Amino acid sequence: FTPKLLAGKKIMITAGSTMEMLDPVRGITNLSSGKMGFALAQMAMRMGAETTLVYGHTHAPRPLVSHAHFAATADDMYHTVMQHIAAQDVFFGVAAVADYKPNMRSSQKIKKSEDILTIDLIKNKDILADVASLPNPPYCVGFAAETEQVIEYAKQKRLAKRLPMIVANQVMTAMGNDNNQVTIIDSKGEHTLDTDLKTNIAFKLLTHLKTQLDLD
Ligand code: PMT
Repeated sequence: FTPKLLAGKKIMITAGSTMEMLDPVRGITNLSSGKMGFALAQMAMRMGAETTLVYGHTHAPRPLVSHAHFAATADDMYHTVMQHIAAQDVFFGVAAVADYKPNMRSSQKIKKSEDILTIDLIKNKDILADVASLPNPPYCVGFAAETEQVIEYAKQKRLAKRLPMIVANQVMTAMGNDNNQVTIIDSKGEHTLDTDLKTNIAFKLLTHLKTQLDLD
């Protein structure tokens, strides 16, 4: 039995990785499997929320949610999120969104020629930062996957993006695995959760979220 703590709430979650295309067959991506975001979406449904999933590339089985939108690139994800954000009470940025995209996308397959091929990358827009800066933003929860100084970098991201809450996790522990180990960072400080299945972590995160929403 899962308590319907989030009944009446509208929650949007991004999940998975984006793919920044270089040409019609190649792209720059990362190792996010989508499992953490999907676990949160599935649990948000079970806890009674109207749940919108904006998902990038993933091989994980997608949960049944109220609304699901595929977004291939960071730009697609940005536009899809912005199209549906006005109605949301909560926004979770779990997707591993590419920070940069190729400056040029070749319409034809790039041919092998020189020994060194240089690709210019330009910065993508930051979805989470822009959502958090909306005039009437939803409650924004970021994720930070780091290889070092996990808590410190997560704290910096929380402040830079002006988020009430961020969830810090270690890349090697979190990416692609069924388990995760996270620390929640909010205005009250740090709350470290034990290593657990992503489903159970999702339940604990959403229960913590509920207490924060009740305080607002
Ligand atoms: O998918 P899994 O294999 O289950 O792995 C889960 C995960 C490791 C991908 C997940 O738990 C996680 O940590 N996701 C965030 C990855 C990350 O480090 O993102 P970031 O540091 O690049 O960005 C910080 C936050 O800003 C994230 O909430 C991200 O979604 C958001 N962001 C980043 C860049 C951008 N252009 N737009 C964004 O919204």
